[in-house]
Amino acid sequence: MNEFQIRYNEYLAEFEKYLQEYAAKMVTSPTILGDSMRYSLLCGGKRVRPVLALACADALGLDKQEILPFALALEMIHTYSLIHDDLPAMDNDDFRRGKPSNHKQFGEANAILAGDALLNEAYSICFRECAKGEKYAVVSAFLNECAGIYGMIAGQSADMQFSEENRELTEEDLFYVYEHKTGKLLLAPVAMASILSGNKSYLALEQFGKLLGKLFQMTDDILDVTGDFKALGKSIGKDETENKWTCVRLYGLEGAKIRAAECAMDALAILEGVEGDVSFLRDLVDYVLKRSN
Ligand code: IPE
Ligand code: IPE
Ligand code: MG
Ligand code: MG
Ligand code: MG
Repeated sequence: MNEFQIRYNEYLAEFEKYLQEYAAKMVTSPTILGDSMRYSLLCGGKRVRPVLALACADALGLDKQEILPFALALEMIHTYSLIHDDLPAMDNDDFRRGKPSNHKQFGEANAILAGDALLNEAYSICFRECAKGEKYAVVSAFLNECAGIYGMIAGQSADMQFSEENRELTEEDLFYVYEHKTGKLLLAPVAMASILSGNKSYLALEQFGKLLGKLFQMTDDILDVTGDFKALGKSIGKDETENKWTCVRLYGLEGAKIRAAECAMDALAILEGVEGDVSFLRDLVDYVLKRSN
């Protein structure tokens, strides 16, 4: 294991412990609600967003305890977005994180409610943090914005809309989807750490978060074509079946790989202007570019 993998696993373990403790306390009546929430929340996933939050906290000299509740709220929002994304009315995917999708396991109604419940729980966490002071309220509002109608939900809406249209999409359309459906929830951890730490490089970090989000969705689109079901834990070839607009469709597979590499270079260049130890963030760009899951 190299230095990057060791650190990634350390952040992962720290987050996982916090998540497990919180999830164990989600006692619901009926129990199926909590069970379906935990099913998707605890069944793996790379945890890139919380790892990024903890790594940014370290890079900016922020106590990781400060960001852990927000990292958890973010992972809950991300997980809810995946549960709903897999529903038959959206991408109609039967597998997620190596297991049957939530609706395959619990039925559609329970999957919709598990998603709703994770979103609400995320905001409960944020409301409790808000009571600590103004900057925590600012971070909560920021996360809400990234997840909401000017963020991830707008991107999901555009993704669905475009897949039903027969016109040729432009690069601008594709990047709108990227920036919102994926980019906003990858920008969130970087920006949250930046706000909490009062770091002076906010604008550069914001730019970095945006580019990382774009890169992440580019490699997601590429893996939908080149990936392996077992490694990915989700079905492949679905973007074509569902008439999705992806970078592979726009540029071709080789063109998409070149664009992804360029995007990674741009993200690395931005990091040059950030104050703090950004070595892990540099390696994370490389990891996202070369990932196989
Ligand atoms: C999948 O996200 C959905 C996208 C935004 C591309 P991840 O690839 O982070 O999924 P998990 O959390 O590891 O399962
Ligand atoms: C999903 O994008 C993004 C969100 C869930 C917000 P995709 O539909 O491409 O993600 P996968 O491929 O199903 O993980
Ligand atoms: Mg989708
Ligand atoms: Mg999908
Ligand atoms: Mg995808």
